[in-house]
Order: sequence, then C-alpha cells, then structure tokens
Amino acid sequence: METVQAVIGLGYVGVPLAVAFAESGFKVIGVDVSEEKAKVLNQGTSITPDVSDERVQALVAEGRLEATTDFSRVSEADLISICVPTPLSKSKDPDISYIVSACDAIVPHVKEGAVVVLESTTYPGTTREIILPRFEKRGFKVGENLFLAFSPERVDPGNETWNIRNTPKVVGGLTKECGRRAAELYGRALETIIPVQSAESAEMVKLLENTFRAINIGLVNELAMVCSRLGLNAWEIIDAAASKPFGFMAFRPGPGLGGHCIPIDPLYLSWKMRMLDYRVRFIDLADEVNSFMPEYVVRRCGEILNEYEKSVKGSRVLLMGVAYKKDIDDVRESPALDLYEKLVHLGARVVYHDPYVKSFNFRGETTEGISWDQVCREDFDLILIATDHSRTDYATLAKRGIPVLDTRNALKGFEGEHLFTL
Ligand SMILES: NC(=O)c1ccc[n+]([C@@H]2O[C@H](COP(=O)([O-])OP(=O)(O)OC[C@H]3O[C@@H](n4cnc5c(N)ncnc54)[C@H](O)[C@@H]3O)[C@@H](O)[C@H]2O)c1
Repeated sequence: METVQAVIGLGYVGVPLAVAFAESGFKVIGVDVSEEKAKVLNQGTSITPDVSDERVQALVAEGRLEATTDFSRVSEADLISICVPTPLSKSKDPDISYIVSACDAIVPHVKEGAVVVLESTTYPGTTREIILPRFEKRGFKVGENLFLAFSPERVDPGNETWNIRNTPKVVGGLTKECGRRAAELYGRALETIIPVQSAESAEMVKLLENTFRAINIGLVNELAMVCSRLGLNAWEIIDAAASKPFGFMAFRPGPGLGGHCIPIDPLYLSWKMRMLDYRVRFIDLADEVNSFMPEYVVRRCGEILNEYEKSVKGSRVLLMGVAYKKDIDDVRESPALDLYEKLVHLGARVVYHDPYVKSFNFRGETTEGISWDQVCREDFDLILIATDHSRTDYATLAKRGIPVLDTRNALKGFEGEHLFTL
C-alpha cells in the first residue's frame, strides 16, 4: 500500500514539500482553505518559482498529487504536514490562529496511527501546548496511537543550490516514538534528517537560525550607518573582512528586513520569553535597528535630492525592485513597500519597476510597475535600488547620469559622483 501524505496549507512552504514527497513515491493530498489555491494546483500550476509548472503537471497527471478544500480527505493520510502561516498581530505578538483553525479542521478526521508534523515557524511549546490537547480531547494517546512532531521548514525561496530535498531537516517529537516515526517518514523523501530530543528543541532550532540572521543583519545595518558618517563604504569593509578564512561570516546591509521569516520569527521568541518575564535584549535591539532602516533610507533620499537642490516633495522617484529579496516575486513584509509609503507620504511621485512583481496593493489600490523600456526612457529625479534582482541591467541604470541611491551594492564596480550607497 502506498503511503499517503496530507499537506495542510499550499503556500511557499506547502507546495515544494508536497511536490518533493509526491516525487518520492508518496500519494499527496494538498488541503487548503482557499478554493483558488486548490484549483490552481489541480490545473498543474505552481505558485512558487522554486517548483516548475511541469513538475506539478506531471504529478497531477500521474495521480500522485491533488489538491482539495475538503478536510475530511485527511482521513486517508498516514502523514500530515501542517504548513499554515504564522504572522504577527498588529501589536507584534504571535498570531497562531491559523495553526489552531487548521488543527480544529483536521482533528475529527485524522486516523489512528497517523503522524502529524507541524512545520509552521512558532514559539517553543506550541506543538505540546496548542496541538496536543486537541488530539487528546478526541481520545488519542500521543506516542501510542497518534504521533506528533515538529519539523522546521528551511526553504529558501529562489535558492538554486539548496532545496527542500537536500537541505537537512530537523525533526523532534513529543515522545521518542513520535520523533522516530516522523523522522522515518520524512527520511523517505528528504536526504538528511537531523533528529533532536523534543518538539520544543526543533521549534527552538528554527528560532535560533532566524534570530542569528536578524541580529547579524542588524549589526551590519548599524555598520552601514556608521560607515556613512565616516565616509567609508560598508560593503568594501565587509568583503575584506570576509577574506578571513575562519571566524567571520559575512552579512550584508539593506533597506530593512523583509519576507515571512526574518522580521517575524525572532519576535515569536521574544514574546514567549516576555511571558516568562525575561527580555531577550539582542532580539529587541536588532529589531530596533532593522525597523529603522526604511526611515534611514528615506532620509538619505532627502539628503541626496538636497544636493541637487531638489526636495522630496514633487520629485519623481524610481523605486527599483519591490520584492523583499532578489530573484523572487514575494512582497510580504518587503522594506520596499515601506520606502514606497514613506516617500509617497512626503509628497514624492514614486513609480516602480520589478521584473518579478507586476503590481502590488497599496492602501487598497493596485499599483502597477513601469516597464524596463520606460525605466530607460523616462526622466527621474532619483533612482532608489531597493532589491538587487540579478536580471536587471545595472550598467544602463548607472550610466543614465540620474542620482542613484543603491541600498544593495548592486552598482558595485560602477563609479560616478551621482552614485550613492546606504
Ligand atoms: N516562505 C518561506 O520562505 C518560509 C520559510 C520557512 C518557514 N516558513 C514558515 O512556513 C509557514 C507557512 O509559510 P508560507 O510562506 O508557506 O505561507 P503562505 O501564506 O505562502 O501559505 C500558507 C497557505 O496556508 C493556507 N491556509 C491558511 N489557513 C489555513 C487553514 N486553516 N487550513 C488550511 N490551509 C490554510 C493559505 O490559504 C495558504 O495557501 C509559516 O509559519 C512560515 O513562517 C516560511
């Protein structure tokens, strides 16, 4: 009998996971609350550039992958992987309501002996405190007739080397047997499994990884502001420091944190520790520095326009890139949107170009990007590079003679008095 996996939540994490397991011989049922997500997948369209439409089409045609909004289909699954969002609330507290509603929807249907793995990033204790009681209420005995584990998702959208299959996967169970079973099933589809002692350890691993990134990015963002005052180029300094073959890991500054993970995950830990009356100072400080970056960039825009005897108000600003990082189409938490909003607020006439993002929503209205042809032809008072997509022709931008504020070092190697870094 073939092993059946149900993937709950067909987003940036769920789709690559579902495809990897289906390609390894599992029959995979994707379950989402969105009719649209299910329809799109059943039509053979991938929602992420990391998985091609062709791969989805082949699996759908073979009957190895299907999507539905019917949660009762979970009853067929031996393995259930939960990949729903875990955003922050307006007050920057964890919002685990998607985990709660996904659990409440699957619990009535899960069969005896199933392995349930939470993949959504969350604070240590979620699997035991939020998920376990819901299964116990239905009479399950965890570690005996139901197996619960946590396995953090490490997918890095746009990364061509490290994908879901070859990136080591950390797995920790609520009991030893939970961990062993989850590791065994995941090991059938993924190359390397790293077992840890508990679900809490696995939850904490993810928070350490992303807290490490957030803090180091905070450090180099501060370095960029320090270097600007000293008239030094932060990127040159980081590159030179990175020539040390040991004991240094390079992080690069930017206009602020973006995406679904780095700006959010450390705050899950910070919140959990606040509940225990402990303040995680490193996280709070990094958050303060990183959150200030869009404000700092807008100030720099004002200073540069000032040098050209112009004000922000009324200036035509071209924002290059709105995705939160290069070579992807995701604008969630993108600092570029913050820059857009702040510049518009100050009265700038802002247009954007992004080869991956045709439009985005701003204050309830759809804002469309301009074409590359318009970028080359039209006049601007300032060009602001917010995202360094690889396919952009930076030589053309640098040579237009228009002042450029480059927050990503995309113009490395080009010289000119009109070219500015952070
Ligand atoms: N995107 C990344 O790069 C990344 C990387 C590592 C970890 N994560 C974590 O993985 C989790 C999922 O992130 P994502 O980027 O895939 O989110 P996403 O928003 O792309 O996808 C989530 C999907 O879940 C669906 N959904 C919402 N509520 C549901 C419910 N109750 N039942 C079933 N489906 C439901 C949504 O319709 C959506 O399709 C988050 O916890 C995130 O922090 C994301």
